[in-house]
Amino acid sequence: MERTFAMIKPDGVQRGLISDILKRYESKGLKIVAMKLMQISEEMARKHYAKHLNKDFFPELIRFITSGPVVALVLEGDNAIEVVRKLNGETNPQKASLGTIRGDFGISKTKNIVHGSDSKESAEREIQLFFSESEILSYERAI
Ligand code: CMP
Repeated sequence: MERTFAMIKPDGVQRGLISDILKRYESKGLKIVAMKLMQISEEMARKHYAKHLNKDFFPELIRFITSGPVVALVLEGDNAIEVVRKLNGETNPQKASLGTIRGDFGISKTKNIVHGSDSKESAEREIQLFFSESEILSYERAI
């Protein structure tokens, strides 16, 4: 069983897409084991996107991701990292296939609706940045 970090970005929240996006993750069979609505600080945004520090789009990315509430998620399931990336679609929503979240709902590279961890290392790092261990729950005792 694998865990990944996903985020519904400010454009997804503002456009009222939270339930549509959660539905896609849940319908695929992923479990939501942690979830919070939050506003990301500039410090946290810089940590989250540290590997893009030298890219020309970095300032715009930080401005956008801190501009309003986001939904932070930990999703669990077989091969969760790859499954979420497939459900999200390509980074550029104009190139993303129809049927993916970005392909169906997005049009801009910055405002691309969702984020998903790109590797096991990123998933571990991002989950730790956004959640404490006690915020990540287990379904084992659910009926
Ligand atoms: P995300 O999956 O959150 O990871 C890094 C983000 O940088 C990416 O989604 C895009 O929103 C953004 N991004 C990547 N490439 C570009 C680009 N060429 N121009 C603007 N934003 C970009």
